[in-house]
Amino acid sequence: MLRTPAAMQDAERHTAHNYHPLPVVISSAEGAWVTDVDGRRYLDCLAGYSALNFGHRHPTLIATAHAQLDRLTLTSRAFVHDQFADFCRELAALCGKDLVLPMNTGAEAVETGVKVARKWGYQVKGVPAGQANIVVAEGNFHGRTTTIVSFSTDSDARADFGPYTPGFRIVPYGDLAALAEAIDEHTVAVLLEPIQGEQGVVVPPEGYLPGVRRLCTESNVLFIADEIQSGLGRTGATFACEQEGVVPDMYLLGKALGGGIVPVSAVAADADVLGVLKPGQHGSTFGGNPLACAVATEVVRLLATGEFQHRSAELGERLHAGLRALIGKGLVAVRGRGLWAGLDIDPALMSGRVACERLMERGVLAKDTHGSTIRLAPPLVITAEEVDHAVAQLAAVLAD
Ligand SMILES: Cc1ncc(COP(=O)(O)O)c(C=O)c1O
Repeated sequence: MLRTPAAMQDAERHTAHNYHPLPVVISSAEGAWVTDVDGRRYLDCLAGYSALNFGHRHPTLIATAHAQLDRLTLTSRAFVHDQFADFCRELAALCGKDLVLPMNTGAEAVETGVKVARKWGYQVKGVPAGQANIVVAEGNFHGRTTTIVSFSTDSDARADFGPYTPGFRIVPYGDLAALAEAIDEHTVAVLLEPIQGEQGVVVPPEGYLPGVRRLCTESNVLFIADEIQSGLGRTGATFACEQEGVVPDMYLLGKALGGGIVPVSAVAADADVLGVLKPGQHGSTFGGNPLACAVATEVVRLLATGEFQHRSAELGERLHAGLRALIGKGLVAVRGRGLWAGLDIDPALMSGRVACERLMERGVLAKDTHGSTIRLAPPLVITAEEVDHAVAQLAAVLAD
């Protein structure tokens, strides 16, 4: 008898239903593959929304975590520990910035960015007290806190969670004229995803990110790039901004930074920006803890080799070529960069959810978003044959 149905029921009984998972109960994993409680294997083409860029249980990361577990796990930032300096120095170097501020979840990195930008606005730019505004994009996804959902345009994420935090202006994504119009003398930051992941891997028009950079520089406004999902190798470069030749004032990082083991996020910026924070003004008990720093330092070292960015760029071409061949055969559009793709399924055929369920039955895990879109974001350790396998299974689902 299969164990999955009972395990699914068990998992639902005492939990808030804030997710609608596929009916699969995973019990072990390695590399790009996971195994469920019934021993069935699946190719993981979601990779924890890019938190597993290096695959499940990457040997170097696991060995580092084990070693650190045997030495020191938590101190709080009331004391300094011996894993902190290396992590901060090496991550700052990877980002080309002076300083980093470690937190845990992506949403905390975004909150940190918002707070730092406001303080910078008041103390450095000279914005009158309480007047700062931040410009964001329609279709954004930056997390789930009350402030962040205040500037979401997704009614599921936002409705009934008010009163909302003021101080945000929303403009259409990809529209430079609208952005220029929205920026005024009280604007402290423009906060954007260089590619909108949750929205369906939406790549902005060419020239948009350099245009944002130019507008921000001209108006003395911080460009904050939320690279929590797009960064750390996903698009074929360390940062998605890099592919447009753009350097933001602040990077927001998360997900893959924790190596798929621990939640680690960070804000990276130069001293004139992050330097506005003084003791007591921001922090987190777990942010920058020894286990997190040990694992994340190894993540930074893996990225410093360039191997994963290279794999993502090369295998991404193969993935996108395979997916483009399905346009007109069940797909209406394919977007993305590197090993990251948003696919729009012909809604006359099936919903994104049904497509994901059928892919699951064929041993491939992916996640739908916004009705008829599927996101593919396999671990960057996936092989060429496995990429072909995923595309073949999708072709079979669309042809069924
Ligand atoms: C671009 C982006 N920013 C922020 C977040 C929030 O990260 P977390 O879920 O770790 O809070 C996400 C999560 O999907 C994201 O994709």
